[in-house]
Amino acid sequence: MHTVPGIKVLYFGTPVVLITTRNEDGTANIAPMSSSWWLGDNAMLGLGNTSQTAVNIAREGECVLNLPSSDMVEYVDRIAMTTGNPEITPHRVEQGYRTVRDKFGLAGLTEQPSELVSPPRILECPIQMECRLTDSHPVGGERRMTAFEVQVLRTHIEERLVIPGTHYVDPVAWDPLIMKFCEFFGGGVPVHSSRLAAGWQMPHRLGSPAAPAAIPAATPATPAPDGEPVLSGSASA
Ligand SMILES: Cc1cc2nc3c(=O)[nH]c(=O)nc-3n(C[C@H](O)[C@H](O)[C@H](O)COP(=O)(O)O)c2cc1C
Repeated sequence: MHTVPGIKVLYFGTPVVLITTRNEDGTANIAPMSSSWWLGDNAMLGLGNTSQTAVNIAREGECVLNLPSSDMVEYVDRIAMTTGNPEITPHRVEQGYRTVRDKFGLAGLTEQPSELVSPPRILECPIQMECRLTDSHPVGGERRMTAFEVQVLRTHIEERLVIPGTHYVDPVAWDPLIMKFCEFFGGGVPVHSSRLAAGWQMPHRLGSPAAPAAIPAATPATPAPDGEPVLSGSASA
């Protein structure tokens, strides 16, 4: 039997991407994101317009998509509620966001020069894709989000993940960090508590045997986002 609960968030489970871009002053920015998918050698990236990343991609036309493995979750969670944007909306402040310009430093990650684009790769990420912006599309009724279409120019893969003698990634060896309803998963099980889920006040199934470090259960997020990405209801990234 199905039910229609008026579902608030449609994040059913996608890989986390650490997207790197160049700020206007030449420094590098990192943002965790997960509204992305690939088609051939193109990728579609869904970003809120107030994110520093959206501003940087639109201006510079370049980014690197760095894929963390599930055992890298702590790096990702450290920068979860941060923005490179010096201006934060009141709604975001309420959620707990703060401005951090040096996210490599905060995360404890290492810059690695790219070969074809200006933004750096993240050394610790086993998969890194250097990309060029090819198109962008407004998304959502109030056009608060943008789908950026990028072309993957070069993909770097950690050697141990490549099936020997082929041009393919070993799907058994590759264990992506998955974001499912704002929670972090690896190998199908929760791997870490999530600052994003706490900031969004996502409800949790406490007491589940596989549950990560507990975050207090809360009522669903209230509708009030101002200029933030919104999916299907009230919550905003
Ligand atoms: C796991 C995870 C996934 C996220 N996915 C997205 C996403 O797909 N799109 C988006 O706009 N924000 C997403 N966010 C929120 C951004 O990280 C957030 O807006 C951040 O402030 C962006 O950083 P920036 O402003 O420096 O670009 C996600 C956050 C986390 C922790």
